[in-house]
Amino acid sequence: MRTRRSGVVPHIVARTKRGTTPLAGGELVRTIAVVGATGLQGRAVTERLLADGWAVRALTRTPSRATGPAPFVGAEMDDVDSLVAAMTGAHGVFSVQPTVGSPGAPPGFTADDEVRWGRNVAEAARRAGVAHLVYSSVAGAGRDEELPVNVAAKARVERALDLPATVLRPVSFMENFTGAYALRDGAVATGLAPHVPQQLIAVDDVAALVALAFSAPGTWIGRAVDVAGDEPTPVEVAAAISAAVGRELPYEQVPVEAIRAVGEDFAFANEWLNERGYRADVAATRRLLPGAEDLRAWLARVGAARIDAFLSGSAR
Ligand SMILES: NC(=O)c1ccc[n+]([C@@H]2O[C@H](COP(=O)([O-])OP(=O)(O)OC[C@H]3O[C@@H](n4cnc5c(N)ncnc54)[C@H](OP(=O)(O)O)[C@@H]3O)[C@@H](O)[C@H]2O)c1
Repeated sequence: MRTRRSGVVPHIVARTKRGTTPLAGGELVRTIAVVGATGLQGRAVTERLLADGWAVRALTRTPSRATGPAPFVGAEMDDVDSLVAAMTGAHGVFSVQPTVGSPGAPPGFTADDEVRWGRNVAEAARRAGVAHLVYSSVAGAGRDEELPVNVAAKARVERALDLPATVLRPVSFMENFTGAYALRDGAVATGLAPHVPQQLIAVDDVAALVALAFSAPGTWIGRAVDVAGDEPTPVEVAAAISAAVGRELPYEQVPVEAIRAVGEDFAFANEWLNERGYRADVAATRRLLPGAEDLRAWLARVGAARIDAFLSGSAR
């Protein structure tokens, strides 16, 4: 018997319904339009949705340059009409935007730009008549306190979601430890206090949660959930990475003055993480996603190989 996959409408229908693509045999597969499909989260979401049986329309500014497993469609987050065109006929939309300091963000990109783009995506999804939007926010965005700019921007986007939506609020990604952001001069180096636990999640688990939300709209629409898979201290992160890659990488805390020299907002974000933190519930996340990885599991599956590749490349 055929396994029922989330994106597959199980009954045979005679004609195409909104948001579906006919397959041989008359089965219909519903389509999710994935914003930021060439990025870290969008790629993982695309792969997971395809594996679960959804059709994916992968949005990018430059379809001719993009490579991946789903068809690419051109859309620009500053152009609502282009987003509407790219989303029309889709069942769902996955929404993510760059933030201030994101590697791919244009020069001068501000929190207001992030908010405008997030609102544009939601507005376009509403105009295109999609049934379910999943917005990737960040943990802490639901709290009523002074928040780092990247968190406060997402809180503003959340408040503007005027359609059936789910808000997923991931903590920091384990993937941050696979490149120059945290691996410097033979050490794991961030501004975080060495012995304060910091919450982490694997991007593939964010993708799995996104797929879960699309698969059970009755449970997930209207929900906002902070999610985390582990909470090691930075010293424990460095020790786990060292053990996984077989070479000693000590933890070194970057002085807050050095971070302040880059920007006051970055310094505040760092202090917020050290003093207040994300405060997602790891056990509750694992109840939603029993396979949610801790750092060691992620290192064993993919992390150590990626870190090794980065260290070998940078050693040449
Ligand atoms: N890193 C962490 O620890 C962490 C944790 C929680 C939340 N977050 C949040 O995650 C977000 C970034 O997600 P990510 O890492 O998946 O992004 P990413 O890898 O930087 O990718 C950004 C995506 O945005 C697309 N894009 C950029 N400008 C665009 C525009 N004008 N119009 C249309 N598309 C555009 C890019 O597509 P093209 O270039 O192909 O057009 C790309 O696919 C940030 O908001 C950050 O705050 C990060």
